[in-house]
This record gives sequence, C-alpha cells and structure tokens, in this order.
Amino acid sequence: MKSYYIGVDLGTSAVKLLLVDGAGAILNSVTKEYPLIFPQPGWCEQEPAEWWRACTEGIGELLKGFDASKVVGIGCGGQMHGLVVLDDEDAVIRPTILWNDGRTAEEVDYLNNVIGKAKLSAMTANIAFAGFTAPKLLWMKKHEPENFARIAKIMLPKDYVNYRLTGVHSCDYSDASGILLLDVKNKCWSEEMLEICSVREAQLPALYESYQVIGEVKEDVAAQLGLPAHVKVIAGAGDNAAAAVGTGTVSDGACNISLGTSGTIFIASDKFGVDPNNALHAFAHASGGWHLMGVVLSAASCNKWFCDEILGTKDYAGEQAGIEDEKLGRNGVFFLPYLMGERSPINDVNARGTFVGLSMDTSRADMVQAVLEGVSFAIRDSFEVAKALGIEIKASKLCGGGGKSPLWRRIMANVLNIRIEIPSAEEGPGYGGAMLAMVGCGAYDSVKACADALISTKAVVEPDPAIAARYEAQYQKFRKIYPALKDVFPALR
Ligand code: XUL
Repeated sequence: MKSYYIGVDLGTSAVKLLLVDGAGAILNSVTKEYPLIFPQPGWCEQEPAEWWRACTEGIGELLKGFDASKVVGIGCGGQMHGLVVLDDEDAVIRPTILWNDGRTAEEVDYLNNVIGKAKLSAMTANIAFAGFTAPKLLWMKKHEPENFARIAKIMLPKDYVNYRLTGVHSCDYSDASGILLLDVKNKCWSEEMLEICSVREAQLPALYESYQVIGEVKEDVAAQLGLPAHVKVIAGAGDNAAAAVGTGTVSDGACNISLGTSGTIFIASDKFGVDPNNALHAFAHASGGWHLMGVVLSAASCNKWFCDEILGTKDYAGEQAGIEDEKLGRNGVFFLPYLMGERSPINDVNARGTFVGLSMDTSRADMVQAVLEGVSFAIRDSFEVAKALGIEIKASKLCGGGGKSPLWRRIMANVLNIRIEIPSAEEGPGYGGAMLAMVGCGAYDSVKACADALISTKAVVEPDPAIAARYEAQYQKFRKIYPALKDVFPALR
C-alpha cells in the first residue's frame, strides 16, 4: 500500500495543506484563510481557535475523493515566535501575539541593554528582537499580570495544532530557537533565561528534533477529521526551516530565500555558529543541524499591500507586465519595506515604509518596481552580513508567493548577483512538513536522504552582468536611505 502524508504550512494569513504520496507527488492542496487582528499600529495578533478551525475544515476538504486510510503521517511548518498561552484547563488565555508584532520595544531594550547582548548571545546564541517570544512573555508579565499568572503551558503556533491533534505538548529545536529561551548550541532550555523571564520549565514543551514523532492523532480527533487510527504526528519545524527542507536546502552552506509575508535568507550549516554581531539569527535546522537567518518582516506583503490597498487591484502579474529588463537597475524611486518595523539587520521597531525619489514623471510601474526592489535590497542587507562573515553564497533557492513572479526572480538574481534556482516543489513549508513526516514514519533515514530523493531544480535564473552592475550602484544608494531617516521614524509614531 502506498502511504500518504499531510504537510501543513501554518502561515500568517492562511494555512496551506498538502496531501503528498510516498513518491513525493502532491495529490491535492487546500488553503484556508484566517484573520489578523491589529489592536494598535505595529501590533499583530491571531486567535489559535482560527488555526484549528482552518486545519480541521481544510483536512476534511483535502481528503475528499482520496483514500484517507492511506494517511500515515502529518508534519507542520508554522509561523515562528507567536506566543500561545494556555491555562491549567487548556483554555487559550489571550490571542497570540505574532512574530511581526512590535509592542515589545521596552522589553527588547531591557534584554539587550540591561541583561546585555553578550550574555544573551552566550546563553541563547541570539539577542532579543521584538518578534521573539521571550520579550512577549516579559510584556505580558508587566501589562497583563493576571493573564501571566494563569499560564500553565507556553507553546508556538504549530505546536498548538500538534497539541490539539495529539494532546502532546511539544516543540522542535528550530522553532524553539526563536523563543529566546533555548540554548541553541546545546539544544536545551537555558535555565538562566527561564529565570530572567520568570518562566518555569514545567510550562515549556518537551523538545524534539523536527522529524521525530511526538505522538499519534487522538482517536476522537481522527474520527472528526476522517483519518485512520495511528496517524503519526511529527514535531515539525518553524516555517523557514520547514521551507528549507522543502526546497532541499539542507547541505552545509546551502541557501534558501523565501518571499512570503516575511522575507528570509536562510543559510544551512552542519556546525553550530553565531554571527558575532547577532544581526543574523543562529537557530537549529529541521535537518538536525543549524542555520543562520536574516528576516525582512514585510516582503511579499509589501507588494500585496501596495497592489491591494493602494492600487486597488489583485492583478499582480498585470502590474508587473510592462517592467522590462532595460528598466531594471534604473529606477529613480526607492522603497524602504519596513511596514511593520524591521528585524535583520537593523532591529528597529520604529522604522516604517518609505518611498524616496518621487518626481512628476514617476509612474505607477516605477512604484511597483521600487517595492519589489526595496524588499530585494533589504534581503541583500542580510546577504552582506553573511558575506562579511566569510560565507560565500553563489546560488540560492527561491520559494514563497513572491518567488512565483518571473520579474521578482530576475530582480533578486541581479540585486544579489547570484544564480537563483527554483526548486521542483515551490510549496516550501508545507512540502517540508510532509517530508519531515516521511522521515519520522521511516520512509527515509534522514532529512538529507529525503531531500536528495525528492527535490530537484526546475528553473534557473542567472544574473545579467550589466543589470547586476546597475543594481550594485542602486544598492549603494538604497543603503544610505535608512541611516538618513533612522532618527525621524520615532518622531512619526
Ligand atoms: C522568522 C520569522 C518569520 C515568520 C513568518 O524569524 O519571524 O519568517 O516565521 O511566518
């Protein structure tokens, strides 16, 4: 009997579910959206009940017309850092504060400057960023002490789904890295950080490698979802590590760029390593190794915002249609993509989106192009940090919604001046989740063996020397804009 696996991408605006067979073919996919809550500018929350509703409805739809009895494993890649808190009766205490929420400026300042970056980095391999989970716990302790006192369990978004499926309170190392309570090098909780954040180990989940089985889908849940008995659930991964698995980014030095709601540049590593300035995150990888990662908080979401909200269209391809190669690297308009503040490398919750260089002859297409370029330049900022660490990146995989745009692929290849490879499976986190489930269920010995068997490159975009040279000059201009505006942003709040 050929087995089926369910891959879950628990994203920021929707869950994407994949039904994948043992040979890696995607048999069906279902997307279910859920709302974001913006209680104040720069804040961003979501209701865990919405994830569960979307997953349960979605799995039902996913299996329609297929032999559900063949499903043997489920693996989830999930949006990282979101703080899910349950009380001792398993009720969700408050909406989840998400990865792109910027309310924790004070707590980040306390952690980085009072506890100190050097100490944080020694304990966790990272410093504090507003989106990370630990600063949110400190925020809750200060602003919602009654809620904080009720916390029985702390978990991350995908772990909430896994908990509802299995009753097991788990987290994998890749996602746990972004809590800022994990000693990433030694893959255990940092006792000192727990104390600093007033957290007890009993409130935290059990830790697993991403491909390890945490349990089976509970009987009543299996009956509700139309699943057979004994479906295994694996620990899963943060969405970026899952996407890296799904694009085959598992070998030492391999790179993946994701253009989703956030934009990330992810560099896999067999060995643990830290950026001495902590501009890049040093996290565990879902393969069992580690990675460095730069995060742009608003990536494809900038294009979505500009087209949907400002231009009033969903025809993204139409907006990009007239932007030919001769225009690349010649735009007079620049865009800072900091719509939700920015993570890497500037770590500034006050930064905001900005168009610079508008003139009477600026066209609609120039502004669309500037948005795509601004995000690509912001990715290059992290790429430059990696380069300064001596990491040589000659090529990168590209995935995520933004990576489907042929224009954005060309811009990215030329802004970074590297080869961009489009992997056979562009589904990133969901496909990676299914692959991790295959490994957990014993179909492959390792994540690397699974990636070698299932992932290939289906298209390649090479940089063009003339365009890359023009973008080099443009990037040097882009780099000057944020420092010039840095001190203006706080005053705009
Ligand atoms: C990574 C991060 C984002 C989210 C998006 O550190 O915050 O990429 O994981 O879902």
